Parts: sequence; structure tokens; C-alpha cells
Amino acid sequence: MSRSAKVYLDAYGCQMNVYDGELITGLLEADGFTMTSHPQDAAVILINTCSVREHAEQRALGRLRSLGALKANRPDLVIGVLGCMAERLGSALKEELSEVDLVLGPDAYRSLPHHLKAHLNGRNGCFTYSPGIPDETYDGIRPSRRNGVNAYIAIMRGCNNFCTYCIVPYVRGRERSRAPEEILDEVRRAVEDGFPEITLLGQNVNSYRWEEVDFPELLTRVAEIPGLQRLRFLTSHPRDLNDRLIECLSSGGVICPSLHLPAQSGSDRILEAMGRGYTRSEYLDKVNRLREAVPDLSLTTDLLCGFPTETEEDFEQTLDLMSRARFDDAFTFKYSPRPGTAAARMRDDVPEEVKIERLERMIAHARQLADQSRQHLIGRETEVLLENPSPKNAAEWTGRTTCGRIALVPGTFRRGDLVRIKVEKVRGFSLWGKPLKSSRG
Ligand code: 5AD
Ligand code: SF4
Repeated sequence: MSRSAKVYLDAYGCQMNVYDGELITGLLEADGFTMTSHPQDAAVILINTCSVREHAEQRALGRLRSLGALKANRPDLVIGVLGCMAERLGSALKEELSEVDLVLGPDAYRSLPHHLKAHLNGRNGCFTYSPGIPDETYDGIRPSRRNGVNAYIAIMRGCNNFCTYCIVPYVRGRERSRAPEEILDEVRRAVEDGFPEITLLGQNVNSYRWEEVDFPELLTRVAEIPGLQRLRFLTSHPRDLNDRLIECLSSGGVICPSLHLPAQSGSDRILEAMGRGYTRSEYLDKVNRLREAVPDLSLTTDLLCGFPTETEEDFEQTLDLMSRARFDDAFTFKYSPRPGTAAARMRDDVPEEVKIERLERMIAHARQLADQSRQHLIGRETEVLLENPSPKNAAEWTGRTTCGRIALVPGTFRRGDLVRIKVEKVRGFSLWGKPLKSSRG
């Protein structure tokens, strides 16, 4: 193979998959490969997939079929499926799609350059499926990040929760934390590379533990890194959220007052069937404590409708929980059974049209709450980290507020500038405001 073989990488799924894509890019570039954004120019096409919902898998399969068609004219093209769907389906993917040469799950990426070289050196046509290393944390690998202001950094991988609907523990394996020094080094490097904002990632960051260091302690240590302007984290499990974390959020330093706290449902019966480990009132108690301690908190959530046995009454409890928690934003989904999970053994008894109708009501309610939450900020001052000129109007820049909302600011800036604005209006999903005189720039 030529040492600079070109690789095209397409990505689906969550923030962890975005980070994994950066790890994969880092691994390949360190081994002499070059990335390209044009599949037509590539010697290798990789698709990093998601399994969390059936829809995510269908989309990835569709993309694979269309990219697979390139192989008709270019039999040397190497096609690899990576990520959660690769782990879930393994070598069965080859049966589904004969164009696939390589299947590697989320804990097997270290072997990717080796396998690609073997394929490019003439072993093309010989299928590879490689299981991952169960305790893999990718220490020592430097992710290659796109330009921007935010860098994702995984602090742990895998999940031990086994919520009954969820495929993640099956495809991403058992929970394992990275050593604090590894994480701190990666944060320091990202800050030196020009990323003023860091988002720490884990399927459940609240169960992070390395010897005596738990998540609030890790967060406190990361927050002390010189040059870091903003620190965020994803995702928190409501059961494990404790007062020390609430204290961190209210500290007012670089730790941003934003929290993603998936509620999933507002019905105790459904929460129990999902195996979430909290009740609706426990969830709402935590939200009240958070809102009291962190008055400018932006609280976001994930919600599922149409879980097996969900009645109209259960669903209305979810709508009611949304109102009570006053979510600033919500990611809403309709349940799809994932093979091998506990819920997949229950009858998927909510008819599709009911699921769709509930999802639409949930989306409408979430929009209304998000809109109220934005309107509420009119007249208030906030800080914006600027990222890019607005695609719609070159005389404005877009960025995010401390609490993570999109903001438009008139003027010309540099990426990474921090300005204070007074919110004057809401435009679509964005806040709009002019910089105040005393702004840092
Ligand atoms: N069907 C639909 N949505 C799901 N999620 C997880 N599993 C499923 C499933 N089987 C949602 C949850 C989770 C988010 C990442 O995806 O709301 O928090
Ligand atoms: Fe991320 Fe889960 Fe999708 Fe995997 S299955 S990409 S962990 S959301």
C-alpha cells in the first residue's frame, strides 16, 4: 500500500462516537494514513455506527449500501464498519452486506491500522472481524480534533447500568475509568492546542472512580488547569447525582451551569420497568435541589415514549414531569426494541401510531419549554464563547452561552473570543445580543 492511503470516515451516534472518531483519526494519522472528506478519493471507507435505536442502524445500513456501490467500479476499495453496530452484529454484517471487508467494535480500534494495511497490501477480499480488548481505555493515543472551541475527552468507557431498553452495556462493555493523570494530561494538551472548552464524557460520569478519586474530585482537579475557560460533562445518571456534584455546578468558576440528566419517563411504573433506580419524586427532588443551588442552571434531558405497557396515563405523567422540571431542552425518542436487552423480551405492545402521536406531543411540549426558557433570558447578561461567523449573516458571529445555548452576536471576532452580551431578543433557536463595553475579547 502507499503509506499515505486516503481514508474517509463517516460518523453516526453520540458524543462518545464523535470522540472515538477523533481517536481513530489520531491512530490512523500517526500510522501514515491521510484523512479525506471525499469518499470518491478514498482507498478506505469507514463508517462509525450507532446501535441505540433501530433507526440509527437503518441509516447506517443505507449509507453503507450506497458507499458499497462504489466498489462495483473499484474492487480494491476497503470498506470497514466500526462502532456499536459492528460490535452488535459482528460477522453477521458481512452476510448482510457482502461489500464489507472489516468489522471492528468500539474496543478494537487499536488494531485498525494493522488490519487496514493487511487489506491494502493485497489481503483485500479477506474479511476481518476483530473482538475488542475488554478493559481498553485508549491511553496513550492522541485524538486528532477538528478545529472548534470544544474538545471532548472520555473519562471512562462502557456502562454497568443495564437499563432494560438499552443496548449500550452490550456493545460498549463494562464500565472502566481512566486514570486521573491521563485525563489531566489530555485536558492540558487540548487547552494548549487552543480548545478553551472541554466536555468530559462518559455513559455515566457520576460513577467515575479511580482509587480515591471520584467524579466531583476529578472535576475539581480538571477545573484548576490553567487556561481552561469552560468545563462541561455528559451524561449524569439521576440515581448517582449527589450534593457534592451540585456544589461543583454552583461553584461559579469554569464549571458551566449546565447539566444533562436523562429522566426517560415520568411514570413510576415505567421507571421501575426500565430499571432506572429512582422514582419520579426522587428525580424531581434532585431537580429542585439543583435549581435552588444553581439558579442559572440549564437542565436538559432524554425522554422515551412508547416503552412496553406505557398507557396514556403513564405518558401524561411524563408530560407533567417535563413541566415540573422546566427542562431547558429535551431530546425525545420513541422506543424501539434492541435485540438482547431485557425489554426486548417484553411485548412491544404500544402501537406504532400511538408511539408517533406521543412523540409529537412530547416534541411540542419540549419546544414550548425551551422557548420559554430562552424568552426568560431576555434582558439578562451572559457570556458567549464565539466559534464561527454566522452562516446566514457575515456581520454576526455564533457561539454558545455559559449554559450552552446558541447565541448570535453582531461584530467581527476571532474563534475563541469570550464576550459578555445583554440578551436583547430570541431569534429562532438562538439568543441575540450586542457585546457589552467591558467584554474580554
Ligand atoms: N429506543 C429508543 N430510544 C432509546 N434510547 C436508549 N435506548 C433506546 C431504545 N431502545 C434513548 C435514551 C437514551 C438516549 C441516548 O437514547 O433516551 O438516554
Ligand atoms: Fe453512542 Fe450508544 Fe449509539 Fe453507541 S449505541 S454510538 S454508545 S449512543
